[in-house]
Amino acid sequence: MRHERQIELLRRLKDVDPHEPWPLAPHSARNPASAYADPRRFEDERRVLFRRRPQMLGLSAECATPGAYMTVDLGGVPALIVRQADGSLRGFVNACRHRGAPVAEGAGQRPRLACPYHGWVYELDGTLAARPYAEAAFDDAPKSTCGLLPIFVAEGYGLIFAQAEEGEDLTADTALAGAQDEIKDYGLESYVLIEGRENTWKVNWKLILDTFTESYHIRALHKNSIAPTYSTDVSLCNTFGPHPQMIGLLKSVFAEIEKPEADWQFLPHTTLQYIFMPSGLITYQRDHIELWRVTPLSVDRTLVRTSLYAPEAPATDKARAYWKKNLDLLLQVTGTEDFPLMEKIQANLASGALPELIYGKNEPALIHLHRSINEALAASAGCPAA
Ligand code: FES
Ligand SMILES: [Fe+2]
Repeated sequence: MRHERQIELLRRLKDVDPHEPWPLAPHSARNPASAYADPRRFEDERRVLFRRRPQMLGLSAECATPGAYMTVDLGGVPALIVRQADGSLRGFVNACRHRGAPVAEGAGQRPRLACPYHGWVYELDGTLAARPYAEAAFDDAPKSTCGLLPIFVAEGYGLIFAQAEEGEDLTADTALAGAQDEIKDYGLESYVLIEGRENTWKVNWKLILDTFTESYHIRALHKNSIAPTYSTDVSLCNTFGPHPQMIGLLKSVFAEIEKPEADWQFLPHTTLQYIFMPSGLITYQRDHIELWRVTPLSVDRTLVRTSLYAPEAPATDKARAYWKKNLDLLLQVTGTEDFPLMEKIQANLASGALPELIYGKNEPALIHLHRSINEALAASAGCPAA
């Protein structure tokens, strides 16, 4: 982030009382409880938000070298992202053109892709290379018509995006909607993946994102963990198209702005969260990047991938242990404090006993996120706004 931008953000904090909730949105907002619990709305969301909009999948380090691949679910479409020999990325429907088996699982590295069912072999670019022992059986189905089906992929500023449908115009710039002006300065292209872990929670996907969009809950929910360190009353919010940015502040930032402006530093006192509607968020966390990616499985079940990336590969076991401990701690706080409560909230919302939720003026990123979601649904034919 440019230094002038950091100063500009710090200036916003001058004259703010660090002990008083700071209302940033002009109005509170309401969202019906059914937005989190209605199975028909969920199907609309999977189609409109997760299939037909750019999905942020991770940093480029997820598929670092030729032959590296990752598999993802794009609103129900099984997808395979593969690093090509020339360094570019391609994406395919992860289904063999013979009889539909997934040609790859999880993530890994391969010189070519072999289907586990009957052994058809595909090149990294998706073309069919061989049908071992059975070419004659398919001599009326030319190989050129049996390549893996493409999906849309874009990469830029060290981030990977994919889109299953209607992605002809997909680029990293269109997907980032202006956030690239800040993100380009982090040099994410050179970060390395330390580890990614996956957990499934019994919640609607939006509840996972909600928990990252405000610092208001820190005082109560995190009183025994991060509350002594983080400001709960004051945070900063910006927006990039549909995407909110929530900047969490360490309490130390209020001592920083007492210094002469020429000495101000912003990044050591913050966690900068870029929430990419709908698929997840990245957090710039001083010395590393954290990523949260959501995959909606059903209206009340969500697969959550958490990845930690470092600026360079750990050179020693001690360095590797340091990063792993960071990830352990992150998953411990969210996994014992945030997400178990989200599961209870999901049950309450599904009960039908609560008509709506209220998002406060002190939760502006939350308001922006749900406005973006509801507007995208409303703009799609046949998908009424909630
Ligand atoms: S389904 Fe892939 S080789 Fe038969
Ligand atoms: Fe939290």
